[in-house]
Amino acid sequence: MENNRSSWGSNLGFLLAAIGSAVGLGNIWGFPYKMGKCGGFVFLIVYLLLAIFVGMIIMVSELAVGRKTKLSPIDAYQKVSKKFSWIGWLATIAPYLIMTFYTVLGGYCLQYIALNMTKLSFGNEAVNMTGGDIFGAMLTTPLGCVVFTILFIIICMVIVQGGVSGGIEKFNKVGMPALFVMLLIIIVRSLTLPHAAEGLKFMFVPGYAVKAGFIEAQPNLVSVLGTAGGQMFFSLSLAMGAILTYGSYLSKEENLVKNSVIIVFSDTLIALMAGIAVIPAAVANGIAQGTPVGQIKLGGPNLLFVTLQDVFTNMGKLGPLFGVIFYVLVLIAAISSAISLMETIAAHWIDKDLAKGENDTRKSRVFTVSLLILIGAVLVAADGLGSNFSPASLLGISTVPTFLDCFLDFFDCWSEGIAMPLGAMLMALMIGWEVGPDLVLDEVAHGDPSEGFKKFFRFCVKFVVPIVMAFVLAGQMIDFFGGNQMIWYAVSVIALVVFWIIAGTGKKAE
Ligand code: PHE
Repeated sequence: MENNRSSWGSNLGFLLAAIGSAVGLGNIWGFPYKMGKCGGFVFLIVYLLLAIFVGMIIMVSELAVGRKTKLSPIDAYQKVSKKFSWIGWLATIAPYLIMTFYTVLGGYCLQYIALNMTKLSFGNEAVNMTGGDIFGAMLTTPLGCVVFTILFIIICMVIVQGGVSGGIEKFNKVGMPALFVMLLIIIVRSLTLPHAAEGLKFMFVPGYAVKAGFIEAQPNLVSVLGTAGGQMFFSLSLAMGAILTYGSYLSKEENLVKNSVIIVFSDTLIALMAGIAVIPAAVANGIAQGTPVGQIKLGGPNLLFVTLQDVFTNMGKLGPLFGVIFYVLVLIAAISSAISLMETIAAHWIDKDLAKGENDTRKSRVFTVSLLILIGAVLVAADGLGSNFSPASLLGISTVPTFLDCFLDFFDCWSEGIAMPLGAMLMALMIGWEVGPDLVLDEVAHGDPSEGFKKFFRFCVKFVVPIVMAFVLAGQMIDFFGGNQMIWYAVSVIALVVFWIIAGTGKKAE
C-alpha cells in the first residue's frame, strides 16, 4: 500500500513546493501593510525573532510528524498522540476555511490581470476609472466575482489532480523562479519612481511611520507580538496541515532542519522583497498625486486592489504592462499556496482509499473537495467584502464585531484567528510534554542535528512556543471579537494552563 503513496521527484522539487505554499498573499499583501501598521522596523525584528524561535520549531515538527507517519494530518495526529489526536481535524478544517476566501482573492487577481490586459490592448483610457471605483464596481458585481473564483478553483483543481510530483511539483518548479524574476522587475520599477525613498523609510526607519502620520502611535509590544505572530504563522503555512502533508511525501534521506531553514529564510526574503516592491510604489504614487504622506492608504485590501492599481494607471503607457506582470506574480503566489491547502484536504481521503487498496481516486477526490470549497467561496465572492451583504446583516446585528463584517472575516476568524494559534499551541504541548521532543529529533536525525540544535529545539518546543502562541491567540481574538482585552488574555492563559496540565500529566504516549 505504502508504495503507491505519492512522493516528491526531488528535494529541490519539495523545497520549491513548500516555498510556494509559504509564499502567498500573506507575503505580498499582509506583510507589507502589517509591517507599516506596527511601526515598521520594530515589527520586522519581532517577526524575525518569532520566525527563528517559533516558526522554525513548528516547521521542523510538522515535517517530522508528516514524514514519520507518512499520513495526512487527521491520521497522522491520531497515530502519534492519544490526548491531542483531534489537532488533525483542526489542521484539515482550517485549510478548508482558508480556501473559501483564498480562492476568491485568487479570482480578484484574475480580474485585475484581465483589466490591465484590456488597458494594455486598448489604452489606459479604455477603463477610465480610479482604483477605488474599479474595486468598488468589482465587489458589487457578484456574478463576475463568482465566475472568476470558479476559474481559480478549476486551475488549482487541475494542478492537484496532476498529482504530487506530476502536478504540484511541476507547477512550482516553473512558477517559483518566474515569480522571483517578476518580483525583481517590479522592485526595480518601484524604486526608480520619484520619492520612492519615503516608502523605504516607512518600512525600515524606526518611528518614521508615526512621525509621518501613517499611524497615530506606536502599538505596544504585546499587540506587535500578536500581529507579527499571526502573520508569521499564516505566511509560513504553519499549523494548517499543509507543511505536514508536504512533509509526508518527503524521502527519509532529506535533512529536515536544513530544509526548514531554507523555507523560513526564503519566505521571509520574499515577504521583504514584496514590501520593497509594493510600499515605495504606493507612497511615491500618493506623493505624486498630491496626497499628504500620512494619508496614503497602505492597509487592508485597498493596498493591493486600489492603491497599486492607481500606481499602474498613473505610470503611463507602460503602466498596464507592469500591472499585468504584478498581478500575474500575485496569481502565481496565490495558486502555489492554494494547491497546498487543497492537497491537505484531499490527502485525507486519498490516504483512506489507498489503505483500502484503491489507487486511482485522486482525480475524483480532488474534484469533490473543489466542489465543497466552492460552496463556501460563493458566499465570500457574492458578499463583496460586505458591500452586498454580510453575516451581520443576515443576522440583523447592528454593532458589528470584525468577524461578522463579511464572510471573508468570518471564515478567517475561525481558521487564521483560532484554529491556527490553538493548533500550534497544542502541537507544541503535545510534542514537548506528551510524546516528548525525541519523536521529532529522532526523525530529524536522518539529517543528524547537532547537540546545540537539540537543546534549542527542546527548550523552544516546551516553553517558548506554547507561551508565545497564547499571546498570538489572545491578539487574534482581540482583533476579531473586540471587547475587553483582559478577557481574551484570560481565556488564552486558561487554555494554555489547562492544555499544559493535560499534556504533562497522566499516562505518557509510547
Ligand atoms: N502561506 C500562505 C500565504 O502566505 C497561506 C497559507 C496558509 C498557505 C496556510 C497554506 C497554509 O499566503
